[in-house]
Amino acid sequence: MAIDMVTNTTTTESMDFQDSYSIVRGEQREIQRLDAQHQLYISAFGYHLHPNIKLPKSGARIADVGTGTAVFLKELATQASSTTEFHGFDISSSQFPPASSLPGNVQLHIGNAMEGFSAEMHDTFDVVTVRLLVAALNGEDWRRVTDHLVKLVKPGGWLQWQESDGLQGMKILRDEFGTKKSHLQTSLSQIFANQTIREKFEYPSRNLARVFHEAGLDEVDEDVVSTDREPHMRSTTLQISVEGLISGMKGGMNGKKYSQEEIDSQVKGWIDDMESGVYQRYNLHCFLGKKPLPG
Ligand SMILES: C[S@@+](CC[C@H](N)C(=O)[O-])C[C@H]1O[C@@H](n2cnc3c(N)ncnc32)[C@H](O)[C@@H]1O
Repeated sequence: MAIDMVTNTTTTESMDFQDSYSIVRGEQREIQRLDAQHQLYISAFGYHLHPNIKLPKSGARIADVGTGTAVFLKELATQASSTTEFHGFDISSSQFPPASSLPGNVQLHIGNAMEGFSAEMHDTFDVVTVRLLVAALNGEDWRRVTDHLVKLVKPGGWLQWQESDGLQGMKILRDEFGTKKSHLQTSLSQIFANQTIREKFEYPSRNLARVFHEAGLDEVDEDVVSTDREPHMRSTTLQISVEGLISGMKGGMNGKKYSQEEIDSQVKGWIDDMESGVYQRYNLHCFLGKKPLPG
């Protein structure tokens, strides 16, 4: 994924409710960023589904909520039995791939995790997965969304939720000798100087295990890995962050409107970082919980 300064906008199609997601959806470069980020998560964790999850031999049902480009489900579908059914839900269809490109056992739906899902979906999924909803959720939303997701899970089934740890474990490093200060470090310090923003992005790594317990899940587990567990992912990690910042600036991150000149000037600095061997690492967290059987 190469970083350039080309920008374009597309319209999005979403349900008619308040949507606090501050990233520009549906642009080709955001779609590429989500796909690269998917590779990073798979490379760092080494799995799609946590090894504690055991699927039934046939007829399993898996839901992915906030599915985006559906890259996770599409890839999982290539590994699972053809009798497994996959359902992706997103508040917006603007990043969905064309239906004709989906395997026959993958279906995508519009759905809002804040509002919940129709009763006929309740108790029907062996596994519900979620990845990277942090930009869309604040404080109490995490418990509310967890409760809606738990309703989807069959008793004895699993909820798996993956997020990064924001600034907590983030380091901007260099892989060559030198004293150059990184532009990215300066940009991130400015953005995360705001305590509300810092707390928002650190919320899941600090609180999601507790939220899972409070929502009544059993066998709660938290798997933590570093983005550079495989060192060849160092430069990908930096590129994904830079693309995320570009998307965020265009989407009005921090409630601020950025001009094209401001965006271009930041991007110049970040390209300079990449060319001078700066890289980034942080931690990824996978939270897992099992819905208890009745009685
Ligand atoms: C950062 S993307 C992650 C996409 C995908 N999970 C992945 O890891 O590639 C977040 C996605 O969540 C969706 N989203 C945001 N708020 C949502 C909500 N309340 N309900 C369902 N989806 C939501 C966004 O539209 C976006 O597609």
